[in-house]
Amino acid sequence: MSPPQLRRRRLLARPPPCAPGIALLLLLVRSLAVGSGCPCQEQELCRPIRDRPDFEVFVFDVGQKTWKSYDWSHITTVAAFGKYDSELMCYAHSKGARIVLKGDVSLKDIIDPTFRASWIAEKINLAKAQYMDGINIDIEQEVNCSSPEYDALTALVKETTESFHHEIEGSQVTFDVAWSPKYIDRRCYNYTGIADACDFLFVMSYDEQSQVWSECIAAANAPYNQTLIGYDDYLKMGINPKKLVMGIPWYGYDYTCLNLSEDHVCTIAKVPFRGAPCSDAAGRQVPYKMIMKQVNSSISGSQWNKDQQAPYYNYKDPAGHFHQVWYDNPKSISLKAAYIQNHGLRGIGMWNGNCLDYSGDSVAKQQTEEMWKVLKPTL
Ligand SMILES: *[C@@H]1O[C@H](CO)[C@@H](O)[C@H](O)[C@H]1NC(C)=O
Ligand SMILES: *[C@@H]1O[C@H](CO)[C@@H](O)[C@H](O)[C@H]1NC(C)=O
Ligand SMILES: *[C@@H]1O[C@H](CO)[C@@H](O)[C@H](O)[C@H]1NC(C)=O
Ligand SMILES: *[C@@H]1O[C@H](CO)[C@@H](O)[C@H](O)[C@H]1NC(C)=O
Ligand SMILES: *[C@@H]1O[C@H](CO)[C@@H](O)[C@H](O)[C@H]1NC(C)=O
Repeated sequence: MSPPQLRRRRLLARPPPCAPGIALLLLLVRSLAVGSGCPCQEQELCRPIRDRPDFEVFVFDVGQKTWKSYDWSHITTVAAFGKYDSELMCYAHSKGARIVLKGDVSLKDIIDPTFRASWIAEKINLAKAQYMDGINIDIEQEVNCSSPEYDALTALVKETTESFHHEIEGSQVTFDVAWSPKYIDRRCYNYTGIADACDFLFVMSYDEQSQVWSECIAAANAPYNQTLIGYDDYLKMGINPKKLVMGIPWYGYDYTCLNLSEDHVCTIAKVPFRGAPCSDAAGRQVPYKMIMKQVNSSISGSQWNKDQQAPYYNYKDPAGHFHQVWYDNPKSISLKAAYIQNHGLRGIGMWNGNCLDYSGDSVAKQQTEEMWKVLKPTL
């Protein structure tokens, strides 16, 4: 989920200290409220979703109200990464879609089984209090292969899934993995163990230039070949295709070029990341809606790179610097998405649903509709 710039360190949030008596009282009041505090107009909308869709469309939502304009005919799960929004929960349920919590945790802590148990209990309580249908575990931290964190992570996923399935009927536990299982960003995870332990993996087929080992030049966020090799590698490990959801980006990268050659090669600054000499951290993430506003007034207009099967354009900023913007559009996405049907993957999803233009402007509306349409299985 969190591309380099977003991979921020989180401060441990501690509740303000208060007298034990008050804390106990608050706990009591809260537990009484659970079950009677359904915020939906119809009480049954607080019930967890139990259907098992044949095809998963998994949407990350980062907050605010754009979800009101989503194409709900497609959505099966919303991962709520923004502030809790009970209106969104009620709405998702009214559309038969699951809505799940975000799960992240410091890997150092989960080595301790007692810590894991209390973390899981806390998430179950939160899910019940907010009428959520599961959790999406988003770790993205570095793990060494022969470290205690390696097995602890698999155990965390297994225990979380068992508890959720037991406590919330029909609930879903998923785990986010990098575009390839090959030690991307120094993540050594037990992918087969984790896939077995949860409902499915969300494969983040983006930020694929997070570690650039060759030339430092601007390139696609999710090049066609590289993306599909990632899935081939997951399948070769023996992971069931029904345990994989393809994650596609609804954002691109804007790179400042140190030099832009006549054949559109944009040299970028060397910004190292986890051992690699350069990285997409040299660029800036831009949502699809901004890209669509800029592309027609760019110097190059939309160009298509055949090797990477991705669109890009060049523009000059007010200070006179050249930029190259790489992105995904319905064409590049549908080329990759064909793999889902061909290999029987579980579904598709995106980071993130909020990136499109929902203003209602007629050109934007059509572009937004097309992006949603690509998610539909083509069979
Ligand atoms: C992994 O191992 C290397 C060297 O052995 C060490 O420097 C690094 O801190 C370790 N990383 C983690 C996340 O434990
Ligand atoms: C991965 O996890 C599974 C389940 O815990 C375990 O059986 C397996 O040995 C692990 N694989 C590796 C390579 O550590
Ligand atoms: C920089 O770009 C110009 C064309 O715009 C080209 O002639 C020149 O060779 C490039 N320099 C390098 C170092 O790539
Ligand atoms: C940009 O150009 C395309 C193709 O010429 C056109 O369909 C689209 O409406 C234009 N977008 C805007 C925002 O004007
Ligand atoms: C992508 O894969 C195809 C088929 O294997 C190959 O012909 C092509 O050269 C590859 N493109 C790149 C950029 O690696």
